[in-house]
Amino acid sequence: MRKPLIAGNWKLNKGGKDAVQLSRNIKEGVRDINNVDVLICPPFTALMRVYETIKDSSVKLGAQNCFYEMEGAYTGEISPLFLIDVGCEYVIMGHSERRQYFAETEDIIGMKLKSAVSVGLNAILCAGEKLEERENGKAFDVVKRQLEGSLSDIPEDYIQKITIAYEPVWAIGTGRTCEPDVANKMHRFIRNWIGEKFGNKSAEKIRILYGGSIKPHNISSLIEKEDIDGGLVGGASIKANSFLEIIIAASKRTRY
Ligand code: 13P
Repeated sequence: MRKPLIAGNWKLNKGGKDAVQLSRNIKEGVRDINNVDVLICPPFTALMRVYETIKDSSVKLGAQNCFYEMEGAYTGEISPLFLIDVGCEYVIMGHSERRQYFAETEDIIGMKLKSAVSVGLNAILCAGEKLEERENGKAFDVVKRQLEGSLSDIPEDYIQKITIAYEPVWAIGTGRTCEPDVANKMHRFIRNWIGEKFGNKSAEKIRILYGGSIKPHNISSLIEKEDIDGGLVGGASIKANSFLEIIIAASKRTRY
């Protein structure tokens, strides 16, 4: 059975000293929880101090992005090796905000993903359709295109280091969560796609997270669904109380 993963994507928040307090509160709050993996992804500038805060705990550290080159003349970019150096185990890739505001294409995301996994990072690949795409019946086509675009030429054994996050764009930051059954259908579709491409064993093992307006009151119904293995949480992850409530609710999942 896949162990649930609850990941906090802090986005452009808590990049300074606040990050220490938030990560300390999370660390203390999850001390007795061992049936859920917990990951926090602060901005780059807070990674070192957050690592120092959580290194003696079960909380894992991730970044929100990285570049595909390891080093060189790329002003302003961050190498996957630098992430390893500051204690990251995970990196988020292809978030819709990066696709939308920073023009990241499937090719770029695929290159970043390959690079990150090649140095030992776990990558969380985000995929999800926009509202008009869902309304036009294109949701499955869009997600398939995103998966194919970023995963089609990765080495087979890389799949073990990959988590998928289904994040319908219309549910991100809107308070409008995807219905658990609707989300689960997409998760099943993603798992089937992984099965066709990488084999059934990989499909059974891979964790597929849901993301989009996860709150303490809706996580339980999502995580009870067969193919929803956790959550990628935005707004509710930058307050210790709400993030901890989500983790505690996930730890009470009844399906095992
Ligand atoms: P919200 O939880 O704020 O909707 O954000 C979801 C998200 O984008 C996580 O990556």
